[in-house]
Amino acid sequence: MHCTKKVKDDLIWVGANDRRLAMFEGIYSVPDGVSYNSYLLTDEKTVLFDTVDKAVIERFIENVTHTLNGRKLDYLVVQHMEPDHCAALQEIIARYPAVEIVCNAKSLELIKQFNNFSLDTEERLNVKIVKEGDTLKTGRHNLRFLMAPMVHWPEVMVAYDETDKILFSADAFGTFGALNGAMFADEVDFKKDYMDETRRYYSNIVGKYGVQVGALLGKLSAFPIELICPLHGFVWRRDFGDIIEKYKLWSQYLPEEKGVMIAYASVYGNTENAAEIFACRLRDKGIKTVMFDVSVTPASEIIAAAFKLSHLVFASTTYNAGIFVAMEDFLNDLVAKNIQNRTIGFIENGSWAATSGELMRKKFDKCKKIDVLEQVISIKSGVKEVQLAEIDAMVTAIARDFNEGR
Ligand code: FEO
Repeated sequence: MHCTKKVKDDLIWVGANDRRLAMFEGIYSVPDGVSYNSYLLTDEKTVLFDTVDKAVIERFIENVTHTLNGRKLDYLVVQHMEPDHCAALQEIIARYPAVEIVCNAKSLELIKQFNNFSLDTEERLNVKIVKEGDTLKTGRHNLRFLMAPMVHWPEVMVAYDETDKILFSADAFGTFGALNGAMFADEVDFKKDYMDETRRYYSNIVGKYGVQVGALLGKLSAFPIELICPLHGFVWRRDFGDIIEKYKLWSQYLPEEKGVMIAYASVYGNTENAAEIFACRLRDKGIKTVMFDVSVTPASEIIAAAFKLSHLVFASTTYNAGIFVAMEDFLNDLVAKNIQNRTIGFIENGSWAATSGELMRKKFDKCKKIDVLEQVISIKSGVKEVQLAEIDAMVTAIARDFNEGR
Protein backbone atom coordinates (compact mmCIF):
# COMPACT_ATOMS: atom_id res chain seq x y z
CA MET A 1 0.00 0.00 0.00
CA HIS A 2 1.32 3.44 -0.86
CA CYS A 3 2.47 5.79 1.90
CA THR A 4 2.99 9.29 0.54
CA LYS A 5 3.05 12.76 2.09
CA LYS A 6 1.99 16.07 0.58
CA VAL A 7 4.81 18.60 0.66
CA LYS A 8 2.96 21.39 -1.15
CA ASP A 9 0.06 21.54 -3.63
CA ASP A 10 1.44 19.51 -6.50
CA LEU A 11 4.59 18.25 -4.79
CA ILE A 12 4.38 14.84 -3.13
CA TRP A 13 6.98 12.93 -1.10
CA VAL A 14 7.19 9.42 -2.54
CA GLY A 15 10.22 8.19 -0.59
CA ALA A 16 10.48 5.56 2.12
CA ASN A 17 12.12 4.86 5.47
CA ASP A 18 14.51 2.06 6.40
CA ARG A 19 14.76 1.08 10.08
CA ARG A 20 16.49 -2.25 9.47
CA LEU A 21 19.72 -0.88 8.04
CA ALA A 22 22.60 -1.58 10.44
CA MET A 23 25.27 0.50 8.77
CA PHE A 24 24.65 3.35 6.33
CA GLU A 25 27.34 3.29 3.62
CA GLY A 26 28.61 0.19 5.45
CA ILE A 27 30.20 2.33 8.17
CA TYR A 28 27.73 4.65 9.95
CA SER A 29 25.29 3.14 12.43
CA VAL A 30 21.74 4.44 12.03
CA PRO A 31 19.97 3.36 15.22
CA ASP A 32 16.99 5.58 14.41
CA GLY A 33 16.84 4.50 10.76
CA VAL A 34 17.18 6.67 7.70
CA SER A 35 14.81 8.09 5.10
CA TYR A 36 15.39 8.02 1.37
CA ASN A 37 13.47 10.99 0.03
CA SER A 38 12.12 11.22 -3.46
CA TYR A 39 9.70 13.90 -4.61
CA LEU A 40 7.16 13.83 -7.43
CA LEU A 41 5.97 17.07 -8.97
CA THR A 42 2.64 16.67 -10.74
CA ASP A 43 2.71 19.76 -12.94
CA GLU A 44 1.61 19.79 -16.60
CA LYS A 45 4.65 17.58 -16.92
CA THR A 46 5.41 15.07 -14.17
CA VAL A 47 8.86 15.24 -12.61
CA LEU A 48 10.45 12.74 -10.24
CA PHE A 49 13.40 14.01 -8.20
CA ASP A 50 15.74 11.06 -7.66
CA THR A 51 14.75 7.55 -6.62
CA VAL A 52 15.65 5.54 -3.50
CA ASP A 53 17.90 2.85 -2.05
CA LYS A 54 17.37 -0.75 -3.15
CA ALA A 55 16.06 -1.68 0.31
CA VAL A 56 12.85 0.32 -0.20
CA ILE A 57 12.15 0.02 -3.93
CA GLU A 58 8.87 -1.82 -3.49
CA ARG A 59 7.26 0.91 -1.37
CA PHE A 60 8.74 3.62 -3.57
CA ILE A 61 7.22 2.14 -6.73
CA GLU A 62 3.83 1.90 -5.00
CA ASN A 63 4.14 5.56 -4.03
CA VAL A 64 5.11 6.72 -7.50
CA THR A 65 2.39 4.64 -9.20
CA HIS A 66 -0.28 5.89 -6.81
CA THR A 67 0.76 9.54 -7.15
CA LEU A 68 0.95 9.43 -10.93
CA ASN A 69 -2.55 7.95 -10.90
CA GLY A 70 -2.28 6.70 -14.47
CA ARG A 71 -0.29 9.64 -15.81
CA LYS A 72 3.01 9.05 -17.56
CA LEU A 73 6.27 10.10 -16.00
CA ASP A 74 7.86 12.83 -18.11
CA TYR A 75 11.13 13.58 -16.29
CA LEU A 76 13.44 11.92 -13.81
CA VAL A 77 15.85 14.49 -12.37
CA VAL A 78 19.04 12.81 -11.15
CA GLN A 79 20.61 15.14 -8.61
CA HIS A 80 22.93 12.55 -7.10
CA MET A 81 23.99 9.22 -8.57
CA GLU A 82 24.95 7.55 -5.29
CA PRO A 83 23.05 4.25 -5.10
CA ASP A 84 21.08 5.25 -1.98
CA HIS A 85 19.22 7.57 -4.37
CA CYS A 86 19.47 5.83 -7.70
CA ALA A 87 18.95 2.14 -7.06
CA ALA A 88 15.49 2.32 -8.64
CA LEU A 89 16.61 4.10 -11.80
CA GLN A 90 16.45 0.99 -13.99
CA GLU A 91 13.07 0.08 -12.52
CA ILE A 92 11.72 3.54 -13.34
CA ILE A 93 13.06 3.36 -16.90
CA ALA A 94 11.53 -0.10 -17.32
CA ARG A 95 8.12 1.11 -16.14
CA TYR A 96 8.20 4.49 -17.89
CA PRO A 97 10.33 3.91 -21.03
CA ALA A 98 9.60 7.36 -22.43
CA VAL A 99 10.88 9.13 -19.31
CA GLU A 100 13.50 11.77 -20.01
CA ILE A 101 16.43 11.65 -17.60
CA VAL A 102 17.54 15.14 -16.62
CA CYS A 103 21.12 15.10 -15.39
CA ASN A 104 24.54 16.58 -16.00
CA ALA A 105 27.33 15.05 -18.09
CA LYS A 106 29.13 13.62 -15.04
CA SER A 107 25.94 11.99 -13.82
CA LEU A 108 25.46 10.31 -17.18
CA GLU A 109 28.90 8.70 -16.87
CA LEU A 110 27.94 7.37 -13.44
CA ILE A 111 24.53 6.21 -14.68
CA LYS A 112 26.32 4.04 -17.23
CA GLN A 113 28.93 2.87 -14.71
CA PHE A 114 26.42 1.83 -12.07
CA ASN A 115 23.86 0.20 -14.35
CA ASN A 116 24.04 -2.83 -16.58
CA PHE A 117 21.86 -1.56 -19.37
CA SER A 118 21.75 -3.63 -22.50
CA LEU A 119 23.27 -1.72 -25.39
CA ASP A 120 19.80 -1.46 -26.80
CA THR A 121 18.47 0.19 -23.63
CA GLU A 122 21.48 2.48 -23.45
CA GLU A 123 20.86 3.66 -27.00
CA ARG A 124 17.24 4.32 -26.15
CA LEU A 125 18.09 6.28 -22.99
CA ASN A 126 16.32 9.55 -23.29
CA VAL A 127 18.69 12.02 -21.64
CA LYS A 128 18.60 15.78 -21.29
CA ILE A 129 21.98 17.06 -20.19
CA VAL A 130 21.88 20.23 -18.10
CA LYS A 131 24.61 22.63 -17.08
CA GLU A 132 24.92 25.36 -14.44
CA GLY A 133 21.90 27.65 -14.58
CA ASP A 134 19.95 25.69 -17.19
CA THR A 135 16.19 25.70 -16.71
CA LEU A 136 13.32 23.33 -17.36
CA LYS A 137 9.75 24.59 -17.68
CA THR A 138 7.29 21.92 -16.58
CA GLY A 139 4.06 23.94 -16.83
CA ARG A 140 3.46 26.17 -13.82
CA HIS A 141 6.92 25.44 -12.45
CA ASN A 142 10.29 26.52 -13.72
CA LEU A 143 13.25 24.52 -12.46
CA ARG A 144 16.78 25.89 -12.43
CA PHE A 145 19.74 23.55 -12.01
CA LEU A 146 22.81 24.52 -9.99
CA MET A 147 25.90 22.36 -9.88
CA ALA A 148 27.10 21.36 -6.39
CA PRO A 149 30.20 19.24 -7.03
CA MET A 150 31.47 17.25 -4.03
CA VAL A 151 28.40 17.87 -1.93
CA HIS A 152 28.87 14.95 -1.72
CA TRP A 153 30.02 13.40 -5.04
CA PRO A 154 31.38 15.20 -8.13
CA GLU A 155 28.17 14.93 -10.15
CA VAL A 156 25.86 16.42 -7.51
CA MET A 157 23.53 19.19 -8.60
CA VAL A 158 20.60 20.82 -6.86
CA ALA A 159 17.38 22.07 -8.37
CA TYR A 160 15.61 25.32 -7.54
CA ASP A 161 11.92 25.73 -8.34
CA GLU A 162 11.60 29.41 -9.19
CA THR A 163 7.81 29.26 -9.02
CA ASP A 164 7.34 28.07 -5.43
CA LYS A 165 10.89 28.90 -4.24
CA ILE A 166 11.69 25.29 -3.41
CA LEU A 167 15.24 24.07 -3.13
CA PHE A 168 15.78 20.38 -3.88
CA SER A 169 19.07 20.17 -2.02
CA ALA A 170 20.33 16.61 -2.70
CA ASP A 171 22.39 15.39 0.32
CA ALA A 172 22.72 18.90 1.76
CA PHE A 173 20.58 19.70 4.84
CA GLY A 174 19.84 16.01 5.37
CA THR A 175 20.00 13.97 8.55
CA PHE A 176 20.12 10.39 9.74
CA GLY A 177 16.88 9.17 11.28
CA ALA A 178 13.61 7.88 9.84
CA LEU A 179 10.76 10.35 9.49
CA ASN A 180 8.32 8.47 11.77
CA GLY A 181 5.20 9.93 10.18
CA ALA A 182 6.36 13.55 10.11
CA MET A 183 7.40 15.38 6.96
CA PHE A 184 8.53 18.79 8.17
CA ALA A 185 11.33 19.67 10.59
CA ASP A 186 8.92 21.93 12.51
CA GLU A 187 6.67 18.95 13.30
CA VAL A 188 9.35 17.53 15.62
CA ASP A 189 11.62 18.94 18.30
CA PHE A 190 14.45 19.14 15.81
CA LYS A 191 17.04 20.82 18.02
CA LYS A 192 16.52 18.34 20.84
CA ASP A 193 15.90 15.14 18.91
CA TYR A 194 17.65 15.52 15.55
CA MET A 195 20.41 18.14 15.64
CA ASP A 196 23.00 15.69 16.99
CA GLU A 197 22.24 13.23 14.20
CA THR A 198 22.27 16.07 11.66
CA ARG A 199 25.75 17.02 12.84
CA ARG A 200 26.89 13.36 12.71
CA TYR A 201 25.45 13.08 9.19
CA TYR A 202 27.07 16.31 8.01
CA SER A 203 30.50 15.81 9.58
CA ASN A 204 30.86 12.24 8.36
CA ILE A 205 29.17 12.43 4.95
CA VAL A 206 30.25 15.84 3.64
CA GLY A 207 32.55 17.09 6.42
CA LYS A 208 35.58 16.71 4.19
CA TYR A 209 34.10 19.05 1.60
CA GLY A 210 33.59 22.24 3.58
CA VAL A 211 34.88 24.45 0.76
CA GLN A 212 32.38 22.98 -1.66
CA VAL A 213 29.53 23.24 0.86
CA GLY A 214 30.50 26.89 1.41
CA ALA A 215 30.44 27.47 -2.36
CA LEU A 216 26.93 26.03 -2.56
CA LEU A 217 25.75 28.18 0.36
CA GLY A 218 27.15 31.24 -1.40
CA LYS A 219 25.40 30.33 -4.63
CA LEU A 220 22.08 29.72 -2.86
CA SER A 221 22.18 33.07 -1.07
CA ALA A 222 21.03 34.67 -4.34
CA PHE A 223 17.75 32.72 -4.26
CA PRO A 224 14.78 33.28 -1.94
CA ILE A 225 13.94 29.89 -0.44
CA GLU A 226 10.65 28.86 1.14
CA LEU A 227 11.08 25.08 1.23
CA ILE A 228 14.16 22.88 1.39
CA CYS A 229 13.66 19.30 0.24
CA PRO A 230 16.74 17.15 0.99
CA LEU A 231 17.28 13.54 0.00
CA HIS A 232 17.40 12.39 3.66
CA GLY A 233 15.47 13.63 6.66
CA PHE A 234 12.88 16.36 7.03
CA VAL A 235 11.64 19.03 4.68
CA TRP A 236 12.31 22.55 5.97
CA ARG A 237 9.48 25.08 5.55
CA ARG A 238 10.26 27.56 8.35
CA ASP A 239 12.91 28.47 10.89
CA PHE A 240 15.70 27.23 8.70
CA GLY A 241 17.97 29.98 9.96
CA ASP A 242 19.30 27.52 12.56
CA ILE A 243 20.27 24.81 10.12
CA ILE A 244 21.76 27.32 7.66
CA GLU A 245 23.79 28.83 10.51
CA LYS A 246 25.09 25.37 11.47
CA TYR A 247 26.05 24.70 7.84
CA LYS A 248 27.95 28.00 7.74
CA LEU A 249 29.92 27.01 10.86
CA TRP A 250 30.50 23.41 9.83
CA SER A 251 31.57 24.29 6.29
CA GLN A 252 34.19 26.68 7.71
CA TYR A 253 35.21 24.15 10.39
CA LEU A 254 34.30 26.65 13.10
CA PRO A 255 33.31 25.18 16.47
CA GLU A 256 29.76 25.66 17.68
CA GLU A 257 30.74 25.82 21.35
CA LYS A 258 33.63 26.28 23.71
CA GLY A 259 34.40 22.91 25.25
CA VAL A 260 36.92 20.09 25.38
CA MET A 261 36.40 16.79 23.62
CA ILE A 262 38.64 14.15 25.18
CA ALA A 263 39.13 10.99 23.13
CA TYR A 264 41.24 8.28 24.70
CA ALA A 265 42.59 4.81 23.94
CA SER A 266 43.52 2.78 26.99
CA VAL A 267 44.53 -0.89 27.26
CA TYR A 268 44.50 -1.42 31.04
CA GLY A 269 42.75 1.73 32.23
CA ASN A 270 45.78 3.87 33.14
CA THR A 271 45.52 6.21 30.13
CA GLU A 272 41.81 6.41 30.80
CA ASN A 273 42.62 7.37 34.41
CA ALA A 274 44.80 10.25 33.16
CA ALA A 275 42.00 11.40 30.86
CA GLU A 276 39.46 11.21 33.71
CA ILE A 277 41.66 13.26 36.07
CA PHE A 278 42.19 15.80 33.26
CA ALA A 279 38.43 16.03 32.62
CA CYS A 280 37.66 16.43 36.33
CA ARG A 281 40.10 19.31 36.64
CA LEU A 282 38.68 21.01 33.56
CA ARG A 283 35.19 20.72 35.02
CA ASP A 284 36.50 22.15 38.31
CA LYS A 285 37.27 25.25 36.26
CA GLY A 286 33.76 25.25 34.79
CA ILE A 287 34.88 24.02 31.36
CA LYS A 288 32.54 21.77 29.38
CA THR A 289 33.96 18.31 28.68
CA VAL A 290 32.84 15.26 26.72
CA MET A 291 34.77 11.98 26.80
CA PHE A 292 34.96 9.04 24.43
CA ASP A 293 36.78 5.72 24.57
CA VAL A 294 37.77 5.28 20.93
CA SER A 295 37.78 1.51 21.36
CA VAL A 296 34.09 1.59 22.26
CA THR A 297 32.35 4.60 20.71
CA PRO A 298 31.85 4.57 16.92
CA ALA A 299 34.18 7.04 15.21
CA SER A 300 31.25 8.86 13.57
CA GLU A 301 30.01 10.03 17.00
CA ILE A 302 33.43 11.27 18.06
CA ILE A 303 33.92 13.08 14.74
CA ALA A 304 30.58 14.82 15.25
CA ALA A 305 31.73 15.96 18.71
CA ALA A 306 35.02 17.20 17.22
CA PHE A 307 33.03 19.33 14.75
CA LYS A 308 31.04 20.79 17.66
CA LEU A 309 33.68 21.72 20.24
CA SER A 310 36.62 24.09 20.24
CA HIS A 311 39.35 22.04 21.95
CA LEU A 312 40.32 18.43 21.28
CA VAL A 313 42.56 16.37 23.53
CA PHE A 314 43.73 12.93 22.54
CA ALA A 315 45.12 10.40 25.02
CA SER A 316 46.72 7.19 23.80
CA THR A 317 48.90 4.45 25.06
CA THR A 318 51.95 3.57 22.96
CA TYR A 319 51.37 0.27 21.18
CA ASN A 320 53.77 -1.61 18.91
CA ALA A 321 55.97 1.49 19.15
CA GLY A 322 53.14 3.55 17.65
CA ILE A 323 49.70 4.93 18.42
CA PHE A 324 47.16 2.47 19.80
CA VAL A 325 45.37 1.01 16.79
CA ALA A 326 41.85 2.28 17.58
CA MET A 327 43.21 5.80 18.15
CA GLU A 328 45.29 5.70 14.97
CA ASP A 329 42.24 4.65 12.95
CA PHE A 330 40.18 7.40 14.55
CA LEU A 331 42.79 10.11 13.92
CA ASN A 332 43.15 9.03 10.28
CA ASP A 333 39.39 9.38 9.93
CA LEU A 334 39.27 12.78 11.66
CA VAL A 335 42.14 14.20 9.59
CA ALA A 336 40.50 12.89 6.41
CA LYS A 337 37.46 14.99 7.36
CA ASN A 338 39.71 18.08 7.12
CA ILE A 339 39.20 19.20 10.72
CA GLN A 340 40.50 22.76 11.17
CA ASN A 341 40.33 25.75 13.49
CA ARG A 342 40.87 23.75 16.67
CA THR A 343 43.22 23.81 19.63
CA ILE A 344 44.52 20.32 20.27
CA GLY A 345 46.51 18.63 23.04
CA PHE A 346 47.96 15.20 23.77
CA ILE A 347 48.34 12.78 26.62
CA GLU A 348 50.69 9.88 25.93
CA ASN A 349 51.43 6.74 27.88
CA GLY A 350 54.33 4.30 27.42
CA SER A 351 55.81 1.92 29.95
CA TRP A 352 59.29 1.96 28.38
CA ALA A 353 59.27 4.18 25.26
CA ALA A 354 56.36 6.59 24.96
CA THR A 355 56.02 7.76 21.35
CA SER A 356 52.28 8.14 20.91
CA GLY A 357 52.14 11.87 21.76
CA GLU A 358 54.48 13.00 19.01
CA LEU A 359 53.05 10.50 16.53
CA MET A 360 49.52 11.75 17.21
CA ARG A 361 50.67 15.35 16.78
CA LYS A 362 52.21 14.53 13.40
CA LYS A 363 48.85 13.26 12.16
CA PHE A 364 47.65 16.88 12.22
CA ASP A 365 50.50 18.22 10.06
CA LYS A 366 48.12 18.21 7.07
CA CYS A 367 45.38 20.13 8.89
CA LYS A 368 45.02 23.89 8.61
CA LYS A 369 44.64 26.39 11.44
CA ILE A 370 45.45 23.99 14.26
CA ASP A 371 46.97 25.31 17.50
CA VAL A 372 48.86 22.66 19.42
CA LEU A 373 49.09 23.08 23.19
CA GLU A 374 52.75 23.08 24.12
CA GLN A 375 52.06 21.14 27.31
CA VAL A 376 52.19 17.35 26.74
CA ILE A 377 51.20 14.98 29.51
CA SER A 378 53.53 11.99 29.40
CA ILE A 379 52.81 8.99 31.59
CA LYS A 380 54.87 5.91 32.31
CA SER A 381 52.38 3.12 32.95
CA GLY A 382 50.23 4.94 35.53
CA VAL A 383 49.61 8.52 36.67
CA LYS A 384 51.85 9.53 39.59
CA GLU A 385 51.34 12.37 42.04
CA VAL A 386 54.11 14.36 40.40
CA GLN A 387 52.20 14.39 37.09
CA LEU A 388 49.24 16.22 38.48
CA ALA A 389 51.24 19.40 37.88
CA GLU A 390 51.56 18.49 34.15
CA ILE A 391 47.83 17.87 33.96
CA ASP A 392 47.15 21.15 35.73
CA ALA A 393 49.46 22.97 33.32
CA MET A 394 47.38 21.81 30.34
CA VAL A 395 44.13 22.59 32.19
CA THR A 396 45.45 26.09 32.98
CA ALA A 397 46.44 26.66 29.32
CA ILE A 398 42.95 25.68 28.15
CA ALA A 399 41.29 27.79 30.86
CA ARG A 400 43.41 30.75 29.71
CA ASP A 401 42.19 30.19 26.14
CA PHE A 402 38.61 30.19 27.33
CA ASN A 403 39.11 33.34 29.39
CA GLU A 404 40.67 35.06 26.40
CA GLY A 405 37.70 34.00 24.27
CA ARG A 406 39.60 31.62 21.98
FE1 FEO B 1 22.57 10.14 0.37
FE2 FEO B 1 25.62 10.96 -1.02
O1 FEO B 1 24.04 9.99 -0.79
